[in-house]
Amino acid sequence: MEVLVTDRRLAEVEADALLVGVRGETVDPALDRALAGVISDVVNRGDLRSAKEEVLVLYPHQGPAAPAAGRILLVGLDEKPTLEMLREAAAKGAAKAEKLGATRLATTLAQIVPSGYTLTQAAAAVVEGTVLATYRYEELKTATKKSEPPLAELTLVLSDKPGVSAARRGADQALAVTRGVTLARDLVNAPGNVATPTVLAQRALAIAERAPFIKVRVYDRAQARELGMGAFLAVAQGSAEEPRFIVLEHRLDQFPDQPPVVLIGKGITFDTGGINIKPSEGLHEMKDDMSGGAAVIGTFAALAEMNLPLPVVGLVPATDNMPDANSFRPGDVMTNMSGKTIENQNSDAEGRLVLSDALAYAERYHPHAIVDLATLTGAMVVALGRGLIGAFSTDTELLNRLKQAGEATGEPLWEMPLYEPYAKFLESDVADIKNVGPRWGGAITAALFLKYFVPEGVPWAHLDIAGVAWNHRERKPKPAYLTPGATGAGVRLLIEFLQSYLRP
Ligand code: BES
Ligand code: ZN
Ligand code: ZN
Repeated sequence: MEVLVTDRRLAEVEADALLVGVRGETVDPALDRALAGVISDVVNRGDLRSAKEEVLVLYPHQGPAAPAAGRILLVGLDEKPTLEMLREAAAKGAAKAEKLGATRLATTLAQIVPSGYTLTQAAAAVVEGTVLATYRYEELKTATKKSEPPLAELTLVLSDKPGVSAARRGADQALAVTRGVTLARDLVNAPGNVATPTVLAQRALAIAERAPFIKVRVYDRAQARELGMGAFLAVAQGSAEEPRFIVLEHRLDQFPDQPPVVLIGKGITFDTGGINIKPSEGLHEMKDDMSGGAAVIGTFAALAEMNLPLPVVGLVPATDNMPDANSFRPGDVMTNMSGKTIENQNSDAEGRLVLSDALAYAERYHPHAIVDLATLTGAMVVALGRGLIGAFSTDTELLNRLKQAGEATGEPLWEMPLYEPYAKFLESDVADIKNVGPRWGGAITAALFLKYFVPEGVPWAHLDIAGVAWNHRERKPKPAYLTPGATGAGVRLLIEFLQSYLRP
């Protein structure tokens, strides 16, 4: 999408539709005048009281004050709008514009700045909402099945020159970030036979090609064996598809003395459950089991277009989990890269196995902090539903930073307990640890398993994104900027989290 930013008068802004926000009962006098009293009319009649309402379409008559756009789309906001409301309003407007066949949309929404935030952030939210709402996954459709051309242009209308430059910054940032979200959605929507570990690695390498300050290194099966990644390789051994351990490094040379933040993403490109095979109902959805990995790769795609002076590492252990004559068995004992031994008691608890080797690999960076993202447990979905990320952390400062980022991006997380007594459930008769506890509290024992492999003394947070990675039909509330299928969860959150280190 092309985003233009202008301070031209509304009557002169060219577009197929003009999207305007109405804030509860508030009438912006300048805007009302420019639109020949349309806003005060709607407010007086009480036709658009809140953010919950549908979009209204008006067809202003020609006259000196009529905007060049033939249609005005009115979208409701609360008296005190949030960033999320702006995202939502932009998304609803964009969807409506597309339905009307518009390809060029203009909006004054970025002029509404939620309290506590900047105009730059407001503009970013508007662009995010627009771009993400018009996302489609049509790579695998032939021409006759593809939909009409989507919205191609968005013009942000500001009231003055300083507004224009602040909004421009926000728009550019949002364009970078949404390219990351879009990549993550594409990777997750792509089925298991398309988004293979090899393809994930190729996408990571392509990012490094565009950005000289990002280095990517990919380990294959033999190289992972040399590193001693026994848990990762055990999961991979039943698959004909070659596994890849993907390492992305952002600006490490530039900040040699600064410990990097390490981001780890579960990259199970398809989770059948292995020998503990899953029931067939909904099994096709297990192509989303690399959502954590997709979020990490998407984050680096965004970083490639941004200028964040921060050392960051991304680790994605990528493999299928298949039942096969070569599969690892329940009862098998593997040695993790750190030398710790693991008894496999359930081959469907494979995510924590591949992550354990990534956590061990992270040690070489002496990280400032480690954050992992994983569609790790069904139990997380039971506990928090489809609207929240479950967050486990050994460090309050790190957790608060992530929580604030979740608040700002509309990717909320909820703290979960690393309840140490439950570590007892993971005691094995034959190895140092086993990979499953009892059914109840399954998200907690999964997190405690990971904690066992976190390098000594490094602040760590584990984000279980099993509930939010896929835009399920029953999800409520369902933000209008989510499209069918993958949500691209985590990318906006991680970028905001990284940026928080750069603020005073
Ligand atoms: N990928 C699944 C978790 C999952 C389940 C994500 C449903 C999204 C929706 C994970 O690998 C898994 O199968 N976990 C098991 C663990 C159990 C065997 C201890 C689970 O949650 O049932
Ligand atoms: Zn599994
Ligand atoms: Zn899994």
